[in-house]
Amino acid sequence: MSELNNIVLKILENGKGILAADESTATMTKRLDSVNVPSTPENRLMFRETLFSSSSMKNYIGGVILYDETIRQISSKKNTIPELILNTGSLVGIKVDTGAKILAGSPYEKITEGLDGLRERLKEYYKLGAKFTKWRGVYNIDKNYPSKLSIHSNAHALARYSALVQECNMVPIVEPEVLMDGEHSAKECLEKTSEVIKRCFEELIIHKVDLKGIILKPNMILAGNKSKEKITNEEVAKLTLECLKSSVPSEVPGIAFLSGGQSEIESTENLNLISKHNTTSFIMSYSYGRALQQGALKFWSKNIEDIEGTQQIFNHRTKMNTLATQGKWSKDFEI
Ligand code: 13P
Repeated sequence: MSELNNIVLKILENGKGILAADESTATMTKRLDSVNVPSTPENRLMFRETLFSSSSMKNYIGGVILYDETIRQISSKKNTIPELILNTGSLVGIKVDTGAKILAGSPYEKITEGLDGLRERLKEYYKLGAKFTKWRGVYNIDKNYPSKLSIHSNAHALARYSALVQECNMVPIVEPEVLMDGEHSAKECLEKTSEVIKRCFEELIIHKVDLKGIILKPNMILAGNKSKEKITNEEVAKLTLECLKSSVPSEVPGIAFLSGGQSEIESTENLNLISKHNTTSFIMSYSYGRALQQGALKFWSKNIEDIEGTQQIFNHRTKMNTLATQGKWSKDFEI
């Protein structure tokens, strides 16, 4: 087994998932603004450190994705944030793209940037303790979108990024996110997401990326959030599995979903059904940002000194999602 494949299996072992705590400073500021907490480096650190030092890290979180600011911060106990995470047995990941910018030639769409100087940045992150990385491509569904241009250029960037990351002995999380914003049907989401993922794998293969050493981070198949169509959680699971079976090569060891704006319970319920009906060889797991942190953030913002109370909420959410990766979650477990 390759070293990279070992890292993937370690992150996703025993139903563990990934905490996506890599919000950029701008995004984190929006999250903190929404709960009326000033977005200072100290407050951003305080909230994140509260999560990273919770007991759930040992049992439920196999990896944490950090942002450049956080990987360099020092905890209140005077160890580095990577040390704090590694001491829990979880692995350190880092977001390495520099954000989605307007795509020249199709200004309604975005292309993710960050390839310039990436090899050097990766070497530094590796020295800081990172074992895996993240790059997010983003696509919107509308009448003529995503365009061929967006599908092609984002797949190309994801593949170039992945090849560089593996060269530096780290596991790339490949995240092509088809947004849930819009009026589109679930069928359209299925078609577009399948096309996007297939194109990504064509490019990954051209760039000689070892597919056993990546984690795919896709969206689930949902109807648009402004669509009149309402589909059941069972249908979400069925369509998501249909999409992944037809577009992901079987060498890929693990798939960790993003939550993409779904509520905490919804994303857990959908993951539970996906795992229950999973007949593929892929390990199905989670790499949630909002759907792991929302409840904890809301509580913390009103009780900033109550570390234990905040951790209890986070512990519960991670436990629920780890149960969901095994198809063992039930609504009755929710408090
Ligand atoms: P959400 O789960 O909030 O969609 O975030 C996951 C992520 O890492 C987006 O890039």
